[in-house]
Amino acid sequence: MGKFIWGLIIGVILIPVAAAVYFAGGFAPAAVNDPPFPFERVIAGTALHARIARSAPKRELSSFTTANIVDGADVYRHHCVGCHGLPDMQRNRPEPKMYPDPPKLFTPDGYVTDDPVGVTYWKVKNGIRMTAMPTFQNVLNEQQMWDVAALLASADKLPPDAVQTLKQPLFPPPPPAANGKPAEPSGDATKGNHPASRR
Ligand code: HEC
Repeated sequence: MGKFIWGLIIGVILIPVAAAVYFAGGFAPAAVNDPPFPFERVIAGTALHARIARSAPKRELSSFTTANIVDGADVYRHHCVGCHGLPDMQRNRPEPKMYPDPPKLFTPDGYVTDDPVGVTYWKVKNGIRMTAMPTFQNVLNEQQMWDVAALLASADKLPPDAVQTLKQPLFPPPPPAANGKPAEPSGDATKGNHPASRR
């Protein structure tokens, strides 16, 4: 009976009090550079895997054409590059860090080539809760989400056209004007904040 009472005291009073002190006392990790919670990755990873295993659709990578993968590269360079990077990208300046940090999806460390395409599609469509990974279902259509998933599933053997597409600058320089000089920016340069109006 004595043991039971002690068990009750520990279980019902001490553990919740310790948890309250841990969280409300400012001991729990909340900053990006804090060390992870005990078992954080295991708990978060298990929940994510279980959820995806239940609802990710199945589709073979072989059902996608090279054109699909190239279209996926175009989606990727508009929506994903900023967080997930490009093949052979050398960062020569410090990047803002996130927790968890977005994996570099075109490096062997970050490849998702072992994941079924449907799993990557699921992550693009639904996002990953409590991380910076957004849901894209209100931004991309079904075809675009599948195409970008097929691109990432092929990240270790990209078709050359997909590499070319990834490398295209997002904001190409304006085409030269008829006289061979770069085109003037449009708009009335005498008004507003254009540098020409501040001389
Ligand atoms: C604002 C930053 C951000 C953007 C933009 C973003 N992601 Fe993510 N993504 C993340 C983060 C952070 C993670 C890591 C989540 C985690 O660790 O659970 C992630 C995870 C992923 C994963 C899972 C990787 C793995 O190892 O399982 C895939 C796949 C992915 N993103 C694809 C994409 C695609 C495709 C796009 C563009 C359509 C995109 N992401 C745009 C931040 C971003």
